[in-house]
Amino acid sequence: MEILIRESPETCAALAAQIVARTVTSLARPVLGLATGGTPQLLYRELVALHERGELSFRSTTTFNLDEYVGLGPSDANSYHRYMQTHLFDHVDLDREQTFLPPGSAPDLRQACREYEELIAEAGGIDLQILGIGANGHIGFNEPTCSLGSRTWVKILSEQTIRDNARYFGDESEVPRHVVTMGIATILEARHCLLLATGPKKADAVQRMIEGPVSAMCPASALQMHPRVTVVLDEEAAFLLTFKEHYRWVERHKLDWQQLE
Ligand code: GLP
Repeated sequence: MEILIRESPETCAALAAQIVARTVTSLARPVLGLATGGTPQLLYRELVALHERGELSFRSTTTFNLDEYVGLGPSDANSYHRYMQTHLFDHVDLDREQTFLPPGSAPDLRQACREYEELIAEAGGIDLQILGIGANGHIGFNEPTCSLGSRTWVKILSEQTIRDNARYFGDESEVPRHVVTMGIATILEARHCLLLATGPKKADAVQRMIEGPVSAMCPASALQMHPRVTVVLDEEAAFLLTFKEHYRWVERHKLDWQQLE
């Protein structure tokens, strides 16, 4: 894992935007995996700004989102469909026919989950998967003790995640119990994973993801098995890391061609 520690959420977002922009501009038909939640909002703001300055076009990009709530349609204010429209899709030149989210409202969820996996495969797989992390170590909506070999499927949220996400819904009782999420195995097939974490609430999960054992108790720790993961952290999310100085040392000693790898 490549660990990059920056001062603030804003400088993390600027760095992550550079990594996304490099992927988008260097490939003829880039495929991005997208995440939701509070953390990537600043990243999307940076990408929109790059686009508005004429420095980045998403015209040939295809996107696949990580997860969606079951039963919340695209027009629901708390659906991730709506989130993506608000924070990215409405502001850039993505072809909307090429933006895909997990099928939270499909009549046959099981069939729709299989089809989502097929769509990703047909697009040639994901070049860069953006990820956040839950305070309990989840990625996507893959909660502790999930299968590390899972594919896109319907999952049940943990009580902690329901509490954590209640801030978007107003009340815990409003948070759907069921979600559709890419599985851990789906995520691990992306060619490059970019995980962003900011703020003190993520420090414990970040430490377990990077320095703990690979364990379903911290689903994000499965990323240790991936050949190419970039983790961008602010100081607060990094503060429990035992080898923090080592990660800074490694970054300072990168060869020229390893910059932003
Ligand atoms: C949500 C999403 C995840 C996200 C995580 C952290 O529940 N399903 O994809 O990474 O929780 O969210 P936040 O950035 O709001 O803390």
